[in-house]
Amino acid sequence: MKNKLALIGFGTVGKGLCEILKMKQAYLNKKYGFDYSIVAVADFAYGNVYNPDGLDIDQMMKEANAKKKFTKDLTNLDTVSLIKTCNADIVCELTYTDLTTGGAAIDHCKAALSTGKHIVTSNKGPAALFYPEMKKIADDHGVKFMIEGTVVAGTPIINLTDGPLAGCEISKIRGILNGTTNYMLTEMEKGMDYAEVLKIAQELGYAEADPTGDVEGYDARGKVTILANIVMGASIKISDVSCKGITKISKADIAAAKAKNARWKLIGSVEKKDGKVFGSVAPEMIDLSHPLAGVMGATNALTFTTDLMGDITIVGPGAGKIQTGFAILTDILAIHRSKKCC
Ligand code: HSE
Repeated sequence: MKNKLALIGFGTVGKGLCEILKMKQAYLNKKYGFDYSIVAVADFAYGNVYNPDGLDIDQMMKEANAKKKFTKDLTNLDTVSLIKTCNADIVCELTYTDLTTGGAAIDHCKAALSTGKHIVTSNKGPAALFYPEMKKIADDHGVKFMIEGTVVAGTPIINLTDGPLAGCEISKIRGILNGTTNYMLTEMEKGMDYAEVLKIAQELGYAEADPTGDVEGYDARGKVTILANIVMGASIKISDVSCKGITKISKADIAAAKAKNARWKLIGSVEKKDGKVFGSVAPEMIDLSHPLAGVMGATNALTFTTDLMGDITIVGPGAGKIQTGFAILTDILAIHRSKKCC
């Protein structure tokens, strides 16, 4: 079955997804009967392109990697009109996160869902700010609003709690939710300078377009809000989550932690107390004997406290081109497999 994809945003995640789809085309076809064509791409830097029979992605990758505009299959349609009128059945919203208003991604998601197209997204804005509204439009139009890529890249979190852990009630989620800051803290402990290591995190594709979102804890706060509302059934706003980043952690603080056999981690947490859900993000000095202390680099880790299974911890990549591209693939495959079974 051919899945027709539209990619809104052709940055790190969009390119990562294209690389995976090409690399694994034969495997995905053999194992899941999965076939695809990318029919539309919209990107503010490279242009909007549409070909209902499939775009020339190899050429587009070459052009984008050379920082040149697309030259084939150009369309005059603006992004929302392109989403509404193209023949894609899955729209991947991969533009930059805006956790203040949600930005253009809100219109992109609404345009897709209201015209009967599934949304798969790594953009935290629509999920953190407008999840109930998006879910309702999706339900009303018989399509899915899939957000695995918004929390801890392709390491299964949303789908884990919705699938294998369904039936367990979760009372607490706690862990490392931001790859950039965990990478920075790891390298700073080795002696690297704050600005230098932030630059490397950007080059590696871990950091947000505006890395303030990472270092001030706003990215982790968006993820805490998503977990609180989607996994724990709360209805909190992003502003309800207390938030402190790592910008004030100095070399002296790092040395002080070391002297106490501990290290700094930026910890996100969601907890149910007396029926109410609370969220927070803050740096904590974690004893070296604690499992979270050993989670280094861009790796993330989350512990779910459940009623039936006790604590379950998942550790895995939380950022990166292929790792987030995989999150998109996993939701696309879930849609593909649900089409096959019904
Ligand atoms: N900037 C984010 C991080 C990317 O570093 O974790 C994934 O949301």
